[in-house]
Amino acid sequence: ATLWNVLFKNELLYAISLQNISAIGFYSGGPALTINLHSSTTIHINRSETAQQKCEVCIGSFCQSSVTLPNGLVSVVFSCLQPEDIFIVEIIRHIEYPSLQNFSRTFTWNVRALVQETFRLDFTTTGLQQIRPTESCQDKHVYSVSTGTTRLGIFCRHGTIKEMQVLNEGTVSLWVPGNRQLVTATFGVSLGQEITSLGIINITLPAENSSQEFFSPNYPDSFPDDDVIMWSFHVPPKYYATVHILNHTEPRCRRKDARLEYQLNGRTVVKKLNEAQLSEHPGPFNLSLQNCKKDTGPPSSSLSLQFRVSATRRSSEGLCNVDLTKEEGLLIHIKKKKPTSACILKLNSHAQETVTIRSEKTSYLSFIDCLEQDLLLTINKTLACPQQTNCLFSGVSLKVPALEKCLLGVLEQVTWHLYASQHGTVELMSPMGGLRQLLPGQTCNGSAFLTVSEDEPQGITVGQFCPQGPIQKVQIRVTNLTVSACPNGNDLRKISYPLLNVSFTKMIGESYIFTVLPKKDMAVLLATPAWPAGMRPHSTVSWIVTFSSKVQAHVGFSNISRLTCQNRYACIKVQKQGSWDHLYSWKEDEKPKDIVVKESFYLNMSNCMPLKGAFSVVSQITLQTSKDVLVNIIISVVILLLLLLIISTVVKKKKQKASMVSVYNPNGHVFLPGLHGIPQTTEDEDFHIYHCIDDTLVYGHLLKDGMKINQFEDYCVFFFFGIFSHKYPLKGLTLVLQMSDLFIRFMTPKTFA
Ligand SMILES: *[C@@H]1O[C@H](CO)[C@@H](O)[C@H](O)[C@H]1NC(C)=O
Ligand SMILES: *[C@@H]1O[C@H](CO)[C@@H](O)[C@H](O)[C@H]1NC(C)=O
Ligand SMILES: *[C@@H]1O[C@H](CO)[C@@H](O)[C@H](O)[C@H]1NC(C)=O
Ligand SMILES: *[C@@H]1O[C@H](CO)[C@@H](O)[C@H](O)[C@H]1NC(C)=O
Ligand SMILES: *[C@@H]1O[C@H](CO)[C@@H](O)[C@H](O)[C@H]1NC(C)=O
Ligand SMILES: *[C@@H]1O[C@H](CO)[C@@H](O)[C@H](O)[C@H]1NC(C)=O
Repeated sequence: ATLWNVLFKNELLYAISLQNISAIGFYSGGPALTINLHSSTTIHINRSETAQQKCEVCIGSFCQSSVTLPNGLVSVVFSCLQPEDIFIVEIIRHIEYPSLQNFSRTFTWNVRALVQETFRLDFTTTGLQQIRPTESCQDKHVYSVSTGTTRLGIFCRHGTIKEMQVLNEGTVSLWVPGNRQLVTATFGVSLGQEITSLGIINITLPAENSSQEFFSPNYPDSFPDDDVIMWSFHVPPKYYATVHILNHTEPRCRRKDARLEYQLNGRTVVKKLNEAQLSEHPGPFNLSLQNCKKDTGPPSSSLSLQFRVSATRRSSEGLCNVDLTKEEGLLIHIKKKKPTSACILKLNSHAQETVTIRSEKTSYLSFIDCLEQDLLLTINKTLACPQQTNCLFSGVSLKVPALEKCLLGVLEQVTWHLYASQHGTVELMSPMGGLRQLLPGQTCNGSAFLTVSEDEPQGITVGQFCPQGPIQKVQIRVTNLTVSACPNGNDLRKISYPLLNVSFTKMIGESYIFTVLPKKDMAVLLATPAWPAGMRPHSTVSWIVTFSSKVQAHVGFSNISRLTCQNRYACIKVQKQGSWDHLYSWKEDEKPKDIVVKESFYLNMSNCMPLKGAFSVVSQITLQTSKDVLVNIIISVVILLLLLLIISTVVKKKKQKASMVSVYNPNGHVFLPGLHGIPQTTEDEDFHIYHCIDDTLVYGHLLKDGMKINQFEDYCVFFFFGIFSHKYPLKGLTLVLQMSDLFIRFMTPKTFA
């Protein structure tokens, strides 16, 4: 082994390089030096080419700009006061031990600075890469750097560690296995600045996607008690670094905790070892591992850390500071549309899969490689009455909150959480010309649709609504209500007008009241709350339907669910406004009827406690003048005739094959094709009977000129007995066919009512 000690004095500056089993040093000294030179060493004292002063170096009386010292004791004198500013000293040590070549060899450089001072090891030319103590290097040249009794690490050549600053006393050793030639490598030594840690390791990440591992000093044994080590990373432009802890052990601490401290852009961020670390950080950063004062009690615990630093090139970064300090109860949630997208979301310097920002503070966001359509935004806004106060307010507008342009993402939902005072009613009105109930399968014309839900007890959806329709007001007897707006296609951000006006009012008598102003000739569909699921047990709903006396309303119940009640009835009642006159009533064990109402009315429904099934109804209201009704009858008759014609033709064709045709309908419902009436489901009726109808009898009295009756021969038409109704889709006419006695009778809604 070769051992070479270099003593550092304050005013001396050395650099040692290792070259072909030789050591080279530089120094500059005081005005006079006495040096005893061995034959294996060569020293050059050269004036620096950049020196301004004309200082000379003299041996005896012979002075020149540079000298090569002879062997043996020699005195050197300088012609100026501070020759160290002007001269460079090169010390070349020739170490040739061919006889030791077969042995494994360790070359050690002991470097000492004065107390509190540091020396700097410059590995710029080789670069080092830290390895696990049990690992070896490809070229079998293993370096070890220590300070005092602490081993900073074990390294191979060709890495990203360019420099180390080590506190006052250090050792660099190089181990080469037997039978292997020492390969040239150079490192420099110089005095460093004062530091507060055990050492600083400078790493320059390459300008390519990279990943490398680092270990705490003494790994896998404990990092010294109460001490600090720092890694200083230089990240090339456009690269983003992420720190990931691969393995760690934590000591039991007497005071404070072992921690990692990041210095980034002048900020200090402290992280515990078990926390998520720095992610996607651009620019340089320092990372310090700080140990605590350990608890001395057995069993001993230790601090060790293995971490990876990776860097990836990114092409764009958008910064966005969202100031919500003046907002209240606002929450913005950002998520990636596809989790696999390259887009990186950061909140306050931390990369996150999803980001939630809250009101009353400023959030610092950054979007790396993100496109607007990569991200989805949702907003929650809370409107609450202060607790315990009887707060009634009116006309609060629900508007899509304006978002900063820099906040990327498609706004796909805004949810308002309305917390009223106890036992109140939430009243919703559209400032945009009413609301239309949106039933499954339908679409909205407007740019957004609204979903109204009750929070309690289990998040019931009251209904979905489109802007512009006959529903003027929705009153819901709840304390907490949720209203969500979703875009009808694009982005909610473009909507600047208020979507709803909300008032918290006094309690109403029904669970729900809808105020409806239908327009003439436009069918209004009204579904019970929670459609298609049933209403809550014992809940009631009322539609206040108001229209002018010039028209009459045709009311149909197209879709009533089947249910069995435990005690009370589930019922539907139609009642004249401002009077107790019942125009119609229905209980769950009856067949519903379509009716015509001549003046404004209440349509009230109440649920029972269902034993089986649930209570849900879709009602259809159409306003018409009496004249329209007549026109409809004529149209309906023509349609019916055509229909029978089609049926007869079909049946006739079938008859040619078999004289007896039979159809089995396993559901027990028989519908005429094209007629979507209400099925008659009373058990004592037989739905599966075919009946022979004489053409002439059926429509002889209806047909006018232009149609030859006798072109029809006798044939079978299948029909079921009883009454069925058909809502004529254009005008809402009810056509009632009485099929008994082989007659069809047409009744106007008036006759029916
Ligand atoms: C110093 O001068 C000698 C002789 O001129 C030369 O061989 C050597 O490379 C020089 N050293 C430096 C560091 O310039
Ligand atoms: C090494 O890192 C320290 C701490 O960040 C810094 O002061 C020093 O200038 C760095 N050295 C080099 C060569 O980058
Ligand atoms: C993590 O550290 C423990 C203790 O030092 C060690 O036993 C284990 O092998 C390490 N695991 C990995 C994946 O390095
Ligand atoms: C925000 O609103 C959505 C949709 O209603 C809901 O699922 C979510 O729980 C809400 N978040 C908070 C924090 O209230
Ligand atoms: C309404 O919401 C508030 C806040 O979430 C909650 O504390 C309260 O219990 C809810 N009230 C009812 C009746 O559900
Ligand atoms: C129907 O509802 C209205 C309120 O919408 C109410 O005034 C009326 O009393 C209710 N009628 C019945 C029979 O419950």
